[in-house]
Amino acid sequence: MIVLGIESSCDETAAAVVAEGREILSSVVASQVADHAPYGGVVPELASRRHVEAIGPVVTQALAEAEEKGAAVTAVAATQGPGLKGALLVGFSFAKAWAYAGNLPFVGVNHLEGHVHSVLLSDNPPPFPFIALVASGGHTAIYKVASPFSMELLGRTLDDAAGEAFDKVSKAMGLGYPGGKVISDFAAKGDPRKIPFPRSWLAPDSLDFSFSGIKTAASRYIQDHPETWAADAPHIAAGFQEAVVEVLAKKSFAAAAKHSIPRLAIAGGVAANTRLRQACAKLGREQGVEVFIPPISLCGDNAAMIAAAGFHRLAQGERTPLTADVFPN
Ligand code: KG4
Ligand code: ZN
Repeated sequence: MIVLGIESSCDETAAAVVAEGREILSSVVASQVADHAPYGGVVPELASRRHVEAIGPVVTQALAEAEEKGAAVTAVAATQGPGLKGALLVGFSFAKAWAYAGNLPFVGVNHLEGHVHSVLLSDNPPPFPFIALVASGGHTAIYKVASPFSMELLGRTLDDAAGEAFDKVSKAMGLGYPGGKVISDFAAKGDPRKIPFPRSWLAPDSLDFSFSGIKTAASRYIQDHPETWAADAPHIAAGFQEAVVEVLAKKSFAAAAKHSIPRLAIAGGVAANTRLRQACAKLGREQGVEVFIPPISLCGDNAAMIAAAGFHRLAQGERTPLTADVFPN
């Protein structure tokens, strides 16, 4: 089965062709980051318009690259949710129309299930079951993954997503959007112990997260030190990053220990964070837990992960009716 995957849940218009849920024949991502940067975050209405402009060319390019390899699409999968409603509708409707016109089987995919599949697409995929941390701009959650399509939610953020906290602190420091990479580059020049930030652990054995407090603490530090904060910016970035990374890593390993599963995968845009990768690698060695991290190209939003997730559902005989709607929440 050769699946055309389409993703448009946030600010990336993406299409990919994946064979048998494993081999990426093409993966095209059109990023809108530059369009949203002046506003310091994603503007939903603008995102929808850019998706409308990009979806045709992006799908055409993905299909052309796959055709050059002699592959013809036999099924279609698209992100059904969660995400921005108007943004989701563009890719989902395009995919349904494509499936209808070609009389191809179609399935809607959960975006977070897609992120977990980015790990399964890497060269060294984890065997089942494994624990997965998905940390992105819109979501932060820990799952127990028992099969390609059975994922049990063990914990999630109660307020901001981890990537969102990076973005908001970056905005407060005037470093622009998106903030993850900028904060992490700044942090490399700072001392994480110089300006310590609070860690929110919630209840002692809770696997849920809360990142709004640390984001507020960073903003307050900046307000309270108008003369000196700029000189300390690398230390603020390092202290903030250290706190977020420590909570993400420790809770993920706590989930692995609680469920006696010595395998942890990390996915989503925040999985690109060097410090998080280092911290997980170190805890993995100490605790005998094998850590799986996809290449950076698969960490952010892409359609290969949607095609791969869709493949497993389609192979089971699952179909989504063409009358189905998106689920933004
Ligand atoms: O998965 P993704 O591309 O899109 C969503 O589904 O949200 O994740 C984007 C998020 C942004 O919040 C961005 O700031 C964050 O991932 N991010 C990072 C890094 N690179 C991207 N956060 C921390 N460190 C990074 N290196
Ligand atoms: Zn995502």
